[in-house]
Amino acid sequence: MNLNRWEQEALALDAADPLRALRAEFFCPPGVIYLDGNSLGLLCRPAEQALLETLEQWRVRAVGGWWGADPPWFTLAEGLAETLAPLVGADPSEVTVANSTTVNLHQLLATLYRPDARRRRILLDELCFPTDGYAVASFLRRLGLDPERDLVRVPGRDGALVDEDAIVDALDDTVQLAVLPSVHYTSGQLLDLERLAGIARSRKVCLGFDCSHSVGVVPHEFSRWGVDFAFWCHYKYLNGGPGAPAGLYLHRRHFDRPPGLAGWWGSDKSRQFEMAPAFTPAQGAGGLQIGTPSILALAPLRGALELTRRAGIAAIREKSLALTGFLLRLADAVLAPAGFSVVTPRAPERRGGHVALHHPRAAEFCGALVQAGVVPDFRPPALLRLAPAPLYVGFAECLEAVRRLAEISAAA
Ligand SMILES: Cc1ncc(COP(=O)(O)O)c(C=O)c1O
Repeated sequence: MNLNRWEQEALALDAADPLRALRAEFFCPPGVIYLDGNSLGLLCRPAEQALLETLEQWRVRAVGGWWGADPPWFTLAEGLAETLAPLVGADPSEVTVANSTTVNLHQLLATLYRPDARRRRILLDELCFPTDGYAVASFLRRLGLDPERDLVRVPGRDGALVDEDAIVDALDDTVQLAVLPSVHYTSGQLLDLERLAGIARSRKVCLGFDCSHSVGVVPHEFSRWGVDFAFWCHYKYLNGGPGAPAGLYLHRRHFDRPPGLAGWWGSDKSRQFEMAPAFTPAQGAGGLQIGTPSILALAPLRGALELTRRAGIAAIREKSLALTGFLLRLADAVLAPAGFSVVTPRAPERRGGHVALHHPRAAEFCGALVQAGVVPDFRPPALLRLAPAPLYVGFAECLEAVRRLAEISAAA
């Protein structure tokens, strides 16, 4: 296999990459090409430093850290919301950091689901990440409703792609609320969030997105698009660490809704320590916090977000599209003859940060790739996902990963 032409292109792209210097900030596993940043992003130096500083503040200040640490732990989530807001196109008051992704979905359902006799169904994409389906079904059951009747699961196309037109057709006047992925976790398909938000609004459906696979790699404009709500994790493209507290967005038109799952950490910060029996929630998304956050888990996120802020989401998206575009061209030229097919939509505006390849032996090849020093991941039944996280992966690494995959499949 002669890849000279590709090598020259990869080297030129790496040399011209404005984000290249950021790689040195990450602890890239030695000798490994890491293409799994959409599962767990790597540790970076600012994240490590922020965590060590927080431990030190705990050691030195003890309880005084809630107000005396730098920044004070008491309002850490509010500070993080300021940094996150531009990544999702929202006002900081519309964003909070709390709980886990799944708990945030429960919180948003409990806050925003308002059924009436006619309009009481919740709509999901059939291919959604399982936790979203589990959460919605259990939520309906807890209200005495029946998921068989009250949960609409819109079938996907070819078992891999979300069918946006079918979703639009299904958003009828029996649907009160819908939850969709922004970027679909297996195929890497990016939905047209602005279009869907506009249609949902015109049909009076409360629409939200699971943005776990888009925040930090795809820019969003939630407020401008009128998206009702969104939730996401911070341990993928935002490198906040395994199980980092999650994100949540609530459009300001819902600020008058009382939090569905109330807890004292959602209090108006200026009144929280009045310890009043009656709950006075913070105005905005902050009111949807529930209990005391893990400060040790927030610390690495605070450090890591600094790198995303420094890079800028527009530059991150530009590099991400160049990386996935390069991988797609390589897949066509080098992997298609070996029986791989590309599942990810090719249009730049329809793809997120990773490329999904189908091969009947994907599971076996995934294991062999790991042995060969490349970390991709596998999603059943037969998808290999390659996620070149723009902050620390380069073009030459993508080429090398494809070369090793081609060798593995040729030898199989
Ligand atoms: C699309 C999507 N939603 C939700 C989750 C997980 O949610 P949680 O952080 O609550 O485990 C994941 C985890 O990979 C995911 O990919």
